[in-house]
Order: sequence, then structure tokens, then C-alpha cells
Amino acid sequence: MIDELRAYLSWAEDAGMQIVASGLRPQAPATAMKLPLLEEVRAQIGECTRCKLHKGRHNIVFGVGDPRARLMFVGEAPGEDEDLQGFPFVGKAGGLLTKMIEAMGLKRDDVYICNTVKCRPPNNRNPEPDELEACEPFLKGQLAAVKPEVIVTLGKFAAQALLRDDSPVSRLRGHWREYERIPLMPTFHPAYLLRSPGEKGKVWDDLKQVMKKLNLPLPK
Ligand code: URA
Repeated sequence: MIDELRAYLSWAEDAGMQIVASGLRPQAPATAMKLPLLEEVRAQIGECTRCKLHKGRHNIVFGVGDPRARLMFVGEAPGEDEDLQGFPFVGKAGGLLTKMIEAMGLKRDDVYICNTVKCRPPNNRNPEPDELEACEPFLKGQLAAVKPEVIVTLGKFAAQALLRDDSPVSRLRGHWREYERIPLMPTFHPAYLLRSPGEKGKVWDDLKQVMKKLNLPLPK
């Protein structure tokens, strides 16, 4: 309950709402603590113009998957395919992400997939600090709505951005951290694995740690 309240307050504050309660009220109506639904978070984004990324986008790429997923994957930002289709990880890297999820004994529909920012940066450059700052409340809203038990960040940018840690992803990966009090496992980005397939074993090691945390059966 305390964690839910914390998630709600964090989401509400970041989404620009003011916390005005001056004390605890007995028998507060249950709805007062209702966590945001994903649709409410999406509605809050609207036809967003909060940062400069809106200028070049075709679609806001919000997120897909089970709104009650136990596992959330967070990538960097939409690429061209994602921008055109409006869904995260639908290009080549997305194909490999789907295989990673299936190797865990899950389906893509069983997890939730989103990005640190919801609009495609020009020429796939890294999101800039002001863009991340403008979009982070919505990532927090998605986390407060879905309440995953584990987050997996994909690639250097997502890990460094969420953890506020500029260590190389090769050092961050494989070690449990936390974001919004949720256990977070950084791992390599599937696009990197397409270029360096020899690194797939390390990602599988990271995913096995995630499976263990979620009590999912490990393959023999
Ligand atoms: N790379 C990402 O980080 N996110 C996507 O949605 C697609 C590719």
C-alpha cells in the first residue's frame, strides 16, 4: 500500500498535479488513491508539444502489452518503423526482442514494452536531456499504472537515463538496480546484439536473472 501511494504521488506530482492534502484523513474515499490507468496516462500526453521532438514525428509511440504485466521492457526511443506504425520495437531490433521474450517462456503480449521518450529523435540520435525530462513523467505514469515487478532496460541510453549513471552499459548490465523502487535489470539493446551476436549469451544471463526474480521456470 505504501509503495502504491508513493507511486501515485510521484506520478501525480510529475504530471503537474499539486499535492494539497495537509494531513491524513480517515476513511479517504478509495478513489482518492486510485493509480492512473494507462489510458489516463496516454490521455495526459495528448497531442504533445512539450518538447521539440513533436516537430518531426508521425506518431506518438506510447507503449504496448499487458496493462498488468509483471515485466516491463524500456528501450531508448522510437526508430523509423516505430514512428510510422505507432508501436515500439516493431523493426528488426523488435524482432529480436520478441525472440528474447519468447526464450523466457513468455509472449510479447505478456509483457509491457515502451521507451524513455515517446517520439522519434531526428536521424535516431539519442534523446536530449530536455526531451527526456519532458517525457519521464509519462514513463513514471506507465510504471504506476502497470506496476511491474521488474523493469529491464534495453541498451546504454535507457539504463543511463533511468539510473542517472553514466557508467558504460557493459558495466551496468547484469546487476540489479532500482527505478521508482522497482527492481531494474540493465541489459544490452537488441540492435546491438544484431551487430554483435557474440554478446547474446550475456543478455541471456541477464534475462535468466529476471526469470529467477519472477519465479519463471528456467529451461534445463
Ligand atoms: N529501439 C528502441 O530503443 N526503441 C524502439 O521502440 C525501437 C528501437
